[in-house]
Amino acid sequence: MDFKKIIVENLNCGFLTKEQAYPMLGACASLDMGDYCLPCFRFAKELKKSPQAIAEEMAKNVSSEYFTAENVGGYVNFRLDRKFMAEKVLTEVYGGGESFKAEKPNGKTICLDYSSINIAKPFHIGHLLTTAIGGSLYRIYKRLGYNVVGINHLGDWGTQFGKMIVAFKKWGDRKDVEKRGVNALVELYVRFHKEAEENPKLDDEARAWFKKIEDGDKEATELFKYFKAVTLEEVDKVYKRLGIEFDSYNGESFYNDKMDGVIETLKEKNLLKQSDGASIVDLSDYNMPPCLILRSDGASLYATRDLAAAVYRKKTYDFDKNLYVVAYQQNLHFKQVFKVLELMGCEWAEDCVHVPFGMVSLEGGGSLSTRSGNVVYLSDVLDTAVEKAKKVIEEKNPDLNDKDKIAQQVGVGAVVFMALSTAKIKDLVFSYDKALSFEGETAPYLQYTQARCRSVRVKCGEPKLENVDFSLLTDDAAAAVVTLLNRYDAVIRDAAEKYEPSLLAKYLIDLAQSYNAFYVDHRIAGEREEVTKARLMLSECVRKTLKDGLNLLLIESPDKM
Ligand code: ARG
Repeated sequence: MDFKKIIVENLNCGFLTKEQAYPMLGACASLDMGDYCLPCFRFAKELKKSPQAIAEEMAKNVSSEYFTAENVGGYVNFRLDRKFMAEKVLTEVYGGGESFKAEKPNGKTICLDYSSINIAKPFHIGHLLTTAIGGSLYRIYKRLGYNVVGINHLGDWGTQFGKMIVAFKKWGDRKDVEKRGVNALVELYVRFHKEAEENPKLDDEARAWFKKIEDGDKEATELFKYFKAVTLEEVDKVYKRLGIEFDSYNGESFYNDKMDGVIETLKEKNLLKQSDGASIVDLSDYNMPPCLILRSDGASLYATRDLAAAVYRKKTYDFDKNLYVVAYQQNLHFKQVFKVLELMGCEWAEDCVHVPFGMVSLEGGGSLSTRSGNVVYLSDVLDTAVEKAKKVIEEKNPDLNDKDKIAQQVGVGAVVFMALSTAKIKDLVFSYDKALSFEGETAPYLQYTQARCRSVRVKCGEPKLENVDFSLLTDDAAAAVVTLLNRYDAVIRDAAEKYEPSLLAKYLIDLAQSYNAFYVDHRIAGEREEVTKARLMLSECVRKTLKDGLNLLLIESPDKM
């Protein structure tokens, strides 16, 4: 409910139009002060009056049955009638059924490049953030009515595939790969590097095999496809657990035959310079190192493929925004790519956005490097969290049905929430104990609150929530919950605009804490019917919002916990 609109409709002051007043209205810092406030300082000069006098006069001229206004030190503080507020907000949230509906399609398209894993490399905890942030943004934009294209820009090209083939042919075994999947492939890759240190000839062989892949040789292509299938099968299992989906798996190799256009344009615009045999775009005017386009042997690079991919995405999807959820280590890469697009004359280059995030490490260590083979697999992290969740559930609620399913929801949810509740740009030290605590700022805490709202309703015999007396929800604790509930929409929008699901995560924690504070001193069951009904209405709105918000963060909400 947009209360700001109601307030500006009822302002009577000559020097300020409704349109001007609207954006100046902000939420009060604390509910003791009021609900919305409007600072009057900037009018002082023009009106030749003190801000206090202006605020005083403005407050006096307000007449509305829905709110009161008063001057507090040059601010007009507006206080909504709490019954009115509860009625408007709760009827709006409660209406429309069990879940919130997506907004009408707005006709805009967002390309969202996320997760973007590498073939024949482990899906490790380092991919958690891109996968979770991207997956959540995917749901958030859909909710807001965007047409979203989720793209897994697979790392499926490069000389390492020549190495993989050599290693596989020399030491590999299909049965073993079938059994152990990417693990087996990674071991082969690691072994290749060890042996190549002693025997540099292996590198020549690898180059030759890579050339064969490029030339479309049958055996090379078959093996290349095989590595890809093995990796994707494994990765898909993790995506299923996380509820992640993609509309396209067009990765680097997809652009093999789509780079000529880019090279043409670069030549036409006289942007391609030779440097030690390589072709580059000089970016020194922009204080950046050159963007490498073709190596001296004519091979394309990561950046070349990204240029082709961006052009392809514009042509295919006509995006309004083209987002890349990729770690901040690639800041320079994307700055270069976007600049080159701009120089190529793509006016839409400014619609390309790198959404960076920090690094993840495990509390107590654990290396993330592929070459040493010493990595923490994301699926192992999920398994461990699920196991630990199961133990907690056994302790807390041994009679629960469906313990395994709930342990999955809680364990996986805990990991994902930990990833999503930290501001993106901060490095994250992952801790199982913190993630799984039922008391901290965690998914289990939110899930537990949601489940409790549900069980309270059942305990009360699930009365129909009609003809609710909203005047029973006007105390401070209830008003605080109502105010937060009313902010949900704006929080989703803010998270979308700032590419920051953590804003939603924080909001859900605030909401749950505020509700739990209410719950502590407001009994729901066993009160007069009218009171029970009103409090249940509040509780139901909290439950629906928590469940919906968790879902936008890729997290499921068990009915019982
Ligand atoms: N596969 C890359 C990596 O793991 C990320 C790709 C991101 N997307 C892109 N269009 N460059 O580092």
